[in-house]
Amino acid sequence: MHGTDEDHAKRAVARHAVDAYVTRDACIGLGSGSTMRYAIERVGELVADGARIRAVATSHETERLCHDAKIPLAVFGDEPIGIAIDGTDEIDPQWSLIKGGGGALFREKAVALAARIFVVIATERKCVERLGAFPLPVEVVPYATPFVAREIEALGASVTLRRSGYDGRAYVSDNGNAILDCAFGTIASPPILDRILREIHGVVSTGLFIGLTSAAFVSKPDGSVAALSHPAHGAATFSARA
Ligand code: 5RP
Repeated sequence: MHGTDEDHAKRAVARHAVDAYVTRDACIGLGSGSTMRYAIERVGELVADGARIRAVATSHETERLCHDAKIPLAVFGDEPIGIAIDGTDEIDPQWSLIKGGGGALFREKAVALAARIFVVIATERKCVERLGAFPLPVEVVPYATPFVAREIEALGASVTLRRSGYDGRAYVSDNGNAILDCAFGTIASPPILDRILREIHGVVSTGLFIGLTSAAFVSKPDGSVAALSHPAHGAATFSARA
């Protein structure tokens, strides 16, 4: 897909989800990443139009974008989150996700867990039959990183310590932790892998989001947006236009 087509699709799905789920007086969770930039832009328009929206941000970058868009910020835990919207790196037919490509997985999962409704927005290239082509991000306490990397390698993954694009040093998450990108290939059972990884001492959070998604929207390069049918109810159909 051409880069600008992908951007067009990201913008369409982000704006569609905000218009479908964000009410004019609400505390909402806002995820991180390039798709979410468009959702934040749309929320900013609603605020400029008088909506009383408070946002819990899932990363320093999202905080900054909210600040630029004049969206008031709320502290995580201070008030209930009605809906949270976030992008994803992969989504499978059960609505399990791999997230954390942008390194914000811990806070994104915190907000997804706390929200009453968690809405996922994706372009169609993020839809996969089985999770795992995208290396799974795992957030790790820095002291334990070499130990955790070996434990995960013993599970069969090829493990890479994420490095900063700027200076090549180890990437540091907003929580002061390291990220291991773990290439497992096709993941046979995301819930089992998630449980095994979380039992390793030093793992803070995994990028596997299991059983959290309440609704999912997917877009095509032409800007059409579909609400995915719930996993229990069969396959997706493209139905709506953004
Ligand atoms: C950040 C994330 C993002 O939601 C995910 O990486 C998708 O990003 P993008 O919208 O830029 O493709 O999990 O930690």
